[in-house]
Amino acid sequence: MTDAEGSRCTSETDMIIHVDCASHVYADGSVGLHEMCFFVRRGEVVVVCGANGSGKSTLIEHLNGGLVPEEGRIEVHGETVDERRRHELWKTVGVVFQDADSQLFAPTVLEDVAFGPLNLGLSPDEARKVACRALEAVDAVRLIEKIPAYMSGGEKRLAAIAGILAMQPEVIALDEPTSDLDPAHAARIESLVRELRERGEFGIVLSTHDLDLASRIADRVVILRDGSVIAEGLPRDVFYDRALLERSGLVEPCVVRIWRAVRGDGEGAMDPRPITEEELVEALKTGLNHRCRRDLEGGAD
Ligand SMILES: Nc1ncnc2c1ncn2[C@@H]1O[C@H](COP(=O)(O)OP(=O)(O)OP(=O)(O)O)[C@@H](O)[C@H]1O
Ligand SMILES: [Mg+2]
Repeated sequence: MTDAEGSRCTSETDMIIHVDCASHVYADGSVGLHEMCFFVRRGEVVVVCGANGSGKSTLIEHLNGGLVPEEGRIEVHGETVDERRRHELWKTVGVVFQDADSQLFAPTVLEDVAFGPLNLGLSPDEARKVACRALEAVDAVRLIEKIPAYMSGGEKRLAAIAGILAMQPEVIALDEPTSDLDPAHAARIESLVRELRERGEFGIVLSTHDLDLASRIADRVVILRDGSVIAEGLPRDVFYDRALLERSGLVEPCVVRIWRAVRGDGEGAMDPRPITEEELVEALKTGLNHRCRRDLEGGAD
């Protein structure tokens, strides 16, 4: 795991976006980003975590040019995003905003989801097909003729996600995508993220307060505080660092909490540090097997 000092951006060929020491102060003086260094590579799921106001949405809004840094810069495929490129960034980076309301504007869901593909030059027929496929992917075909303004919060979220999927951008950034979804649709979005990752064509950025979700899907976790990256690394390394989570205003994932309760807090006692439910079950079974064998051997004496 690296700390803020060590979170150097690499320059690998699969790097898509590089936020290079970016700072952004809002008009009222609030600090949105402070010397933020962040990157997204093709084929990875980066999960951004942090307390309320830590800068997650501000970072995500910089990724598609919605906000620009006052200091530092954003690079896409190694080229600095200037004013012209900024207005074309939407083709490379699709953002589903935290407030899905602000994203939907067409009279029906179908028109909304087909808008991006049409703008990318697809024929109305092709755009319609792509839009239908995207709505299927998020299990929202039933919304196709609905008027966005009259939909529930979760329905709006699904339509907004479909709208971004339909454009097939290189980077898909989802700002708290499951926060208002029912468990079945949240699970659908989670497996969609997995499917997209398997295809290896996209870089995926997802911000969330749900560290259980982050444990399950992140290749890399980035922790923000006060607009800066204070740590990043594998979920296993980040989420077993209790002091770091406390410093970040986060609560450890359920699996970590259970394993800590089982193993106690002693130095080195946490191995093998399970991070998913499957790993936890495996670790508990292994522990039980050892205990049974010991008991049996003890009984045989
Ligand atoms: N439009 C704005 N004008 C002024 N300050 C803002 C604006 N948007 C965000 N901020 C401030 O910038 C900082 C970062 O906010 P941001 O919305 O990026 O946090 P966040 O991590 O997404 O929080 P949450 O978990 O609540 O969504 C906060 O201090 C916030 O008050
Ligand atoms: Mg936010």
